[in-house]
Amino acid sequence: MLVLLYLITLDLFLLHIKLEILFNMSSLQVVSLGTNNLKGSLPREIGNLTKLQFLYLHGNRFTGEIPKEIRNLIELEVLNLEFNSFSGSLPTEIFNISRLRNIALSGNNLSGTLPPNIGSTLPNIEILYLHGLTNLVGTIPHSISNCSKLTDLELSQNKLSGLIPNSLGYLTPLNFLNLWGNNLTSDSFLSFLTSLTNCRNLKYLNLSLNPLNGILPVSVGNFSISLIKFDASACHIKSKIPNEVGNLSSLLDLHLSDNNFIGSIPTSIHNLRSLQRLDLNNNKLTGFIGDNLCKLQHLGDIYLAQNQLSGSLPNCLGNVTSLRLIYLDSNKLSSNIPTSLGNLKDLIKLDLSSNNMVGSLPPEIGI
Ligand SMILES: *[C@@H]1O[C@H](CO)[C@@H](O)[C@H](O)[C@H]1NC(C)=O
Ligand SMILES: *[C@@H]1O[C@H](CO)[C@@H](O)[C@H](O)[C@H]1NC(C)=O
Ligand SMILES: *[C@@H]1O[C@H](CO)[C@@H](O)[C@H](O)[C@H]1NC(C)=O
Ligand SMILES: *[C@@H]1O[C@H](CO)[C@@H](O)[C@H](O)[C@H]1NC(C)=O
Ligand SMILES: *[C@@H]1O[C@H](CO)[C@@H](O)[C@H](O)[C@H]1NC(C)=O
Ligand SMILES: *[C@@H]1O[C@H](CO)[C@@H](O)[C@H](O)[C@H]1NC(C)=O
Ligand SMILES: *[C@@H]1O[C@H](CO)[C@@H](O)[C@H](O)[C@H]1NC(C)=O
Ligand SMILES: *[C@@H]1O[C@H](CO)[C@@H](O)[C@H](O)[C@H]1NC(C)=O
Ligand SMILES: *[C@@H]1O[C@H](CO)[C@@H](O)[C@H](O)[C@H]1NC(C)=O
Repeated sequence: MLVLLYLITLDLFLLHIKLEILFNMSSLQVVSLGTNNLKGSLPREIGNLTKLQFLYLHGNRFTGEIPKEIRNLIELEVLNLEFNSFSGSLPTEIFNISRLRNIALSGNNLSGTLPPNIGSTLPNIEILYLHGLTNLVGTIPHSISNCSKLTDLELSQNKLSGLIPNSLGYLTPLNFLNLWGNNLTSDSFLSFLTSLTNCRNLKYLNLSLNPLNGILPVSVGNFSISLIKFDASACHIKSKIPNEVGNLSSLLDLHLSDNNFIGSIPTSIHNLRSLQRLDLNNNKLTGFIGDNLCKLQHLGDIYLAQNQLSGSLPNCLGNVTSLRLIYLDSNKLSSNIPTSLGNLKDLIKLDLSSNNMVGSLPPEIGI
């Protein structure tokens, strides 16, 4: 009795098998055919494999619709059909298979909506990857808060609209939340962010390219120190950057570019001791750059271009020897270029164009 079928990619072979040979193997529990060159459609008979627990068909060239008979796979725990060319509607039948822990359908030509009752139909879901479907529309259902085991929610690059539900904050195991590139909105206080501060395991939060249209609340300082990447670039945010961001002491990446932030770079930034990349490009930041950045001994990339920063370039920047990229172009900086920048042995790019810099280039630079 065949229970497992594994065909892992063999680089030298183009795998051609007829899926039909599977469908009489009614005891199959695992089908693992990911990353091969399988093509054609997925036959309705897939629904005959009612003992199936794991179905991996990702990274092939399957076309056609995902058959509705998939609803018969009531034992299914993992369904991975990512990065194929499945088309037609996102089968809502999938969201009725209550044992599912992992659904991965990213990168297919699928259309549809998330079911409003997802919280009751998928109580065991841990991983939901629906990135880059051709036409995923509608809202993120409130009931998702009842998917109480969810750790990874990947809904980026779709056409979701409406409010980001505050109920996401009930998902305490949430580790990864990627919503970039949708049409999602919020109330003007971005209160969903305040709710998300309850998710003490959250490591990755990407909201970029959504029309959030609000202010960044001081509650961002209440995110757990588990947060390592935070991206809210191009979200139509207009406010100061709250000093509380300095609380996020584990952050590696902070991206707030292409918004309408005003005021100065928060002085608390010196607390972000792990920070590797700071991107505040294209805002309306004013004031001096100040010495606070110089305390960030892991900082590799600084993007502060297209703001209204003035004053001089801090001399202590030459102590941040991890620096590789510095973009300060299109500001109102004046003064000489500090000779200390000659210490930055790994520097690849220093862009100071369109400022009011004076003096001559220090000889230490470029040696
Ligand atoms: C599957 O089983 C049926 C009935 O036992 C048989 O008629 C059919 O030929 C089998 N199909 C394949 C592809 O082996
Ligand atoms: C397999 O599935 C097809 C279509 O769903 C069905 O007509 C057929 O009876 C099934 N065969 C078996 C052996 O269950
Ligand atoms: C995507 O699917 C639609 C039908 O659902 C079809 O009209 C379109 O050609 C498909 N696009 C690609 C790139 O396969
Ligand atoms: C999902 O299950 C519910 C309850 O069993 C049922 O009413 C509904 O029709 C099912 N939906 C689909 C798309 O199978
Ligand atoms: C979550 O489930 C509980 C119990 O079934 C229910 O009362 C509640 O309305 C659900 N919450 C949402 C937001 O759907
Ligand atoms: C984005 O959502 C708004 C409603 O919140 C709607 O009016 C608008 O048409 C949507 N835009 C796109 C490109 O879908
Ligand atoms: C931050 O969390 C603390 C403790 O839960 C709470 O008292 C405080 O109101 C929160 N601050 C904001 C701005 O939400
Ligand atoms: C957020 O998503 C955008 C779009 O893919 C990407 O460019 C950016 O690097 C992501 N941010 C982080 C912190 O990973
Ligand atoms: C967050 O930062 C603010 C201001 O910098 C500070 O008053 C507050 O105590 C910090 N909260 C936590 C939880 O560290």
